Amino acid sequence: MIAVSIVKFYICVKYKIMIKKILIALVVLFVLIQFFRIDKTNPVSAIENDFIEIYQPPVEIAAMLKTSCYDCHSNESKYPWYTNIAPVSWLVKHHINEGREYFNFSEWTSLTTKKQNHILEECAEEVEEGEMPLPSYLIMHSESKLTQDQIETLEHYFIDLREELSTSNK
Ligand code: HEC
Repeated sequence: MIAVSIVKFYICVKYKIMIKKILIALVVLFVLIQFFRIDKTNPVSAIENDFIEIYQPPVEIAAMLKTSCYDCHSNESKYPWYTNIAPVSWLVKHHINEGREYFNFSEWTSLTTKKQNHILEECAEEVEEGEMPLPSYLIMHSESKLTQDQIETLEHYFIDLREELSTSNK
């Protein structure tokens, strides 16, 4: 009986030491990764190349674009406090890089008419399906979440603009 208790006690102590070691390793790792900081400088682009500047959408639409899309699809990304903390910072930077790569509202004029047309179509679709803004982004940006009414308004704005541009380019 005593022997069994001793063995149990021994295993218990061993586990406690192991868990403590893992926790210490995780804390050390967390501290170390903080040295890998992200670059928060936004690229500079001329205002006349900016989507909102060019099309002058209604204030309501411009506001939606700024609060729900511009953080990742423009050169006006904002970096809140938690973007100082790795690995969240890496994820944010990755989204911004990837978002800008798809298209950048601040550099709208660098796209061909065909590409602009395609992106407007995609924008309407992504918004309608609730794919954009990215759901993971909304966890920390409740103000960027679009209501059903806003989704429809924005979707129709993209569709109408696309229509307008394709007829004016014919
Ligand atoms: C948190 C960053 C973020 C925000 C905010 C965001 N996007 Fe995106 N967007 C991305 C990323 C990353 C991709 C590429 C990967 C993907 O499709 O998931 C993307 C892709 C897209 C695409 C291309 C989709 C495809 O598959 O071809 C469209 C169109 C788009 N976004 C529109 C929008 C619109 C419109 C808004 C605002 C209502 C918006 N996005 C807000 C990050 C973002």
